[in-house]
Amino acid sequence: MNVIELKGLTHKYSIGTPFESVAVDNVDLTIEKGEFCGIIGHTGSGKSTLIQHLNGLIKPTQGQVLIDGKDIWDKSVNIRDIRFKVGLVFQYSEYQLFEETVYKDIAYGPKNMGCEGEELDKRVREAAEEMGLDEELLERSPFDLSGGQKRRVALAGVIAMKPEILILDEPAAGLDPIGRENVLSRISEYHKKHGTTILLVSHSMEDIVKYAQKVLVMNKGKVFCHDETDRVFARQDEITEIGLDVPQITKIMMLLRQKGVDLGQDIYTVERAKERILRYMDNKGTVC
Ligand SMILES: Nc1ncnc2c1ncn2[C@@H]1O[C@H](COP(=O)(O)OP(=O)(O)OP(=O)(O)O)[C@@H](O)[C@H]1O
Ligand SMILES: [Mg+2]
Repeated sequence: MNVIELKGLTHKYSIGTPFESVAVDNVDLTIEKGEFCGIIGHTGSGKSTLIQHLNGLIKPTQGQVLIDGKDIWDKSVNIRDIRFKVGLVFQYSEYQLFEETVYKDIAYGPKNMGCEGEELDKRVREAAEEMGLDEELLERSPFDLSGGQKRRVALAGVIAMKPEILILDEPAAGLDPIGRENVLSRISEYHKKHGTTILLVSHSMEDIVKYAQKVLVMNKGKVFCHDETDRVFARQDEITEIGLDVPQITKIMMLLRQKGVDLGQDIYTVERAKERILRYMDNKGTVC
């Protein structure tokens, strides 16, 4: 079942001025329920503009956004309900923290939905735990935490609303490798546990291949492709032609192939590379 459907979605900024520009250009797209989709594309390719349409934060210039089969701008739809159904975590989301305590910050969203008492408390504690935030942090000021912890507080605030669809714009940007891993692996665990539909924008091909089942490649406001992760990276030449990188390990495998060691053209993760190298060594240099 498709939870998200975009039909001819176009977004123009600064309409009627000399600065008029098309950020999203006639996009048709469907996202299945439970899909974990990575979104990649050059800076300015329209990723953030596209995802901001999905919870009605911005309105299409043309075209339709359907959530669960319903046009979100239809008169019968309350856009407030859509905002609860589709959780959007912005880039550098920690800038939106403002409460005195971590607890209050996580509680803000569900409280706005009308959640209170025991249910509210349960949601806050569960979301904090799922994002790896210790109980003792709940009464601290969010401003006393590390960058990675603040990011996870912001994420917990959104997941405490139990959205059906979770959209994350560069959730690991600017964090150190441990912070990145901590944020991304928690999102991945959350996806496995709840089956929530997840859209994750990232500039890191490594992160995308590691976590996403499908990839949406944006190029100049259009969908370049939307397919299974393996199938997208199998189109290495086209991906590099539009100026995007393939994972580093894939590049190493390409260089090895040029030197006569062909371990296969479908290696996008270090784990798979390790398997193939070991197999290659077991076979005493015979290509597997
Ligand atoms: N508020 C705005 N007003 C005018 N133009 C905008 C606005 N936001 C984005 N744009 C333009 O729309 C285009 C798409 O921008 P968008 O931010 O959606 O791209 P992006 O893929 O998210 O880029 P990045 O990877 O840098 O985050 C760009 O040309 C950008 O300059
Ligand atoms: Mg962006």
